Amino acid sequence: STTLLKLNELGINIPPWYTSLPLAIQIIVGFVGSVGLIIGLNVLRQLALPRNKSLPPVVFHYIPWFGSAAYYGEDPYKFFFECRDKYGDVFSFILMGRKITVALGPKGNNLSLGGKTSQVRAEDAYTHLTTPVFGKGVVYDCPNEMLMQQKKFIKSGLTTEALQSYPPLIDLECEEFFSHELGLGKEKKSSVKVDLLKTMSELIILTASRTLQGKEVRQGINGKFAQYYEDLDGGFTPLNFMFPNLPLPSYRRRDKAQKAMSDFYMKIIEERKKGETDHELDMIASLQGSVYKDGVPLTDRDISHIMIALLMAGQHTSSATSSWALLHLADRPDILEGLYQEQVKYFGKADGTLGPMTYESIKDLPLMDSVIRETLRMHAPIHSIYRKVISDIPVPPSLAAPSEQSSYIIPKGHFILAAPGVSQMDPRIWQNSKTWTPERWLEEKGVGQAAVESYTKSEQVDYGFGSVSKGTESPYQPFGAGRHRCVGEQFAYTQLSTIIAYIVRHFTMKLEVPSFPETNYRTMIVLPKNPQVSFTLRKQEV
Ligand code: HEM
Repeated sequence: STTLLKLNELGINIPPWYTSLPLAIQIIVGFVGSVGLIIGLNVLRQLALPRNKSLPPVVFHYIPWFGSAAYYGEDPYKFFFECRDKYGDVFSFILMGRKITVALGPKGNNLSLGGKTSQVRAEDAYTHLTTPVFGKGVVYDCPNEMLMQQKKFIKSGLTTEALQSYPPLIDLECEEFFSHELGLGKEKKSSVKVDLLKTMSELIILTASRTLQGKEVRQGINGKFAQYYEDLDGGFTPLNFMFPNLPLPSYRRRDKAQKAMSDFYMKIIEERKKGETDHELDMIASLQGSVYKDGVPLTDRDISHIMIALLMAGQHTSSATSSWALLHLADRPDILEGLYQEQVKYFGKADGTLGPMTYESIKDLPLMDSVIRETLRMHAPIHSIYRKVISDIPVPPSLAAPSEQSSYIIPKGHFILAAPGVSQMDPRIWQNSKTWTPERWLEEKGVGQAAVESYTKSEQVDYGFGSVSKGTESPYQPFGAGRHRCVGEQFAYTQLSTIIAYIVRHFTMKLEVPSFPETNYRTMIVLPKNPQVSFTLRKQEV
């Protein structure tokens, strides 16, 4: 009532019907009215006021601050494709107070992924999410130049010699997992129904820890490590990306787990220094002794934090990719059988058994390669790659909608978003772009071959972690492009091929849901919803 008196004093007349309402109703009506007014003004501003032509068009939205969060969050690809039709390859949208400019297509990717460090920065876009999880001093909690050197150290841990040692270990882990954990095998169950994502998450962490992470991690995996991992992972969600620090239990658990996990790795390093364990061709062994260009060595703490970063970088991407690949194989028994015949062709022995998988043979299996490529084309685990814009970026007119054809500036302070998945599913580039078709990669001189060519054989650049193909203009970039390009690609291929080959050799698969699983975009990584499948032992295994 005091407020009403004040409004009256200001000459704003409150209608008598309003003042006659009970106070609680007045408050509700007042609140709803204010929200309506704010939305109305926001709509009016977008429709009636002339647009600043030097900035990209902004996606129409009703609620200020919240912006297009629901439209984008529910299905980012629907959002990207629909907005591209309306606004062209470059457009901005509001996401909970942040101004995001999407730059699509090979040329758009070039602005963000191929952008100069004087224009775009990954660390400014990610550090609030990653530093509480990985720990301080590495990846996005240090200057880009240091990250580039850390990537060089990681790369030198993934030598051919190291990769060669992995398939037999992965094969062994698979054997133990399917027989002990899932209980499949002779004189055991011949068939089992599982949640595929859960199964693959377990198998990926088991195989990564046995190989890249090292045997102490593998030994600890059923103990405290699992809990630390779960709590850390609970701090790696879209909520953490939007709100770095909330007073919630999950944030506190994340911080506690980060410290515990970091100490866990520190202890491994200390023990190794005392010579109490023999170490193999794993990443900790390789990182020990790495020295930055200026002569400063990596500290044990840095190594621990890089190990956490690698664990997180590989875990979800590879579990998601293997789950999607196997779901498609369960849906396409002909391709599953093709993969089996490929195993017979490449590994078959005179006695009818299949020989051991080696790094050399596993990396040159044409159909296996096509299955993984096609899965990554349709289900890129990361749908949006962000950078913070730190100085204005000019956008050529060719990226604007045909009706506009004007040049824009993406201003300092915006985030620039690359979505390689859009080009990877663009019907203007790929025939039947929405259908999983591994065969497309086997076509000589096909679109797939050309895309791989421009991804792997384009201009070679050394950003500080060895010469890599820039790849920013390829329509196929499942491992990113430019200076932040993935250094785990070969490891991922080795891990995925060996696991899929193991499964194909021993089991057939069936979808245990009425239709092919839909996509969940509400997690950091693009995941299948309710992926129920069954594994059944092949006849000769029973
Ligand atoms: C970067 C995808 C597996 C380590 C990236 C990026 C993508 C990607 C798209 C670029 C991110 C950006 O530009 O912001 C994938 C996919 C994987 C996979 C699809 C599996 C199927 C792995 C594995 C490791 C790893 C297994 C570790 C062994 C890294 C690292 C970076 C990276 C260190 C560099 C980040 C940077 O420079 O900012 N990955 N990744 N990735 N990935 Fe992977």
